[in-house]
Amino acid sequence: MILDGAAIAQGVKESLRQRAAKLAARAGRKPCLAVVLVGDNPASRTYVQSKIKAAAFVGIEGREVEFPATVGEEELLDAVAALDADSLVDGILVQLPLPAQINPDRVLDVISPAKDVDGFHPQNVASLQLGRHCTVPCTPKGIIRLIDSTGTPIDGKTAVVVGRSNIVGKPLAKLLLDRNATVTIAHSHTQDLASITRQADILVVATGHAGLIDGSMVKPGAIVIDVGITRISPTRLKGDVDFASASQVAAFITPVPGGVGPMTVAMLMENTLECFESRLGL
Ligand code: GUN
Repeated sequence: MILDGAAIAQGVKESLRQRAAKLAARAGRKPCLAVVLVGDNPASRTYVQSKIKAAAFVGIEGREVEFPATVGEEELLDAVAALDADSLVDGILVQLPLPAQINPDRVLDVISPAKDVDGFHPQNVASLQLGRHCTVPCTPKGIIRLIDSTGTPIDGKTAVVVGRSNIVGKPLAKLLLDRNATVTIAHSHTQDLASITRQADILVVATGHAGLIDGSMVKPGAIVIDVGITRISPTRLKGDVDFASASQVAAFITPVPGGVGPMTVAMLMENTLECFESRLGL
């Protein structure tokens, strides 16, 4: 069965839209999400546009702030700090990756944890690891929702996460562990990857390596979540999982596009409402 992330995300955004309207009535203004885009990476531009569009749908004011690829680190830090100091801004997202002259850690550090809708600030990362209240990163949060949508309990299952990024692999592994899965993190140095992935009741692949996982590497009946998005032609995107072969073996599988991507955006909207609510004490 195909896990239709676009449809599930649409349902989430519709309920968030009602929640946003109630919060806005109480606050006397809409929540505001600032999205910072540096440079003209076409993929980043597409993602930022879809975030702004989703914000408009939900009833969140999207404030897009753009900088040329040549922007200096101090100028960018000052701009992000100004957004952070602006009491009318509830959430700040800086689209990654950033150009080489910018240290992303310095940029993420100037966003207060209370406005960190991505959950990338070290304080939110630490809180997630400690099991404290925090903003949960959007992509891992959306992946858990997708798995839950299958009705399959995560508790006790073997989960394999391929990829160890700070954005997806590491936080997702912790969320799966919190749900009592037995979690393995595999990566580019893993020997005999197929023997590991074939044990997975839940297999999540987030490497950016198009077609890395084929049907022979999937356990029959598994839930397969494909986080990869590689543009292989102007009109074609390809995931990290070979959909044609893996879909013959899996019980549930996400398509690319239309799987994880829309869920990430929906979770960003949810995180923005959570920040709005807690900042304003609504
Ligand atoms: N680049 C790729 N994924 C993400 C994300 O979830 N948030 C931000 N800010 N940048 C990204």
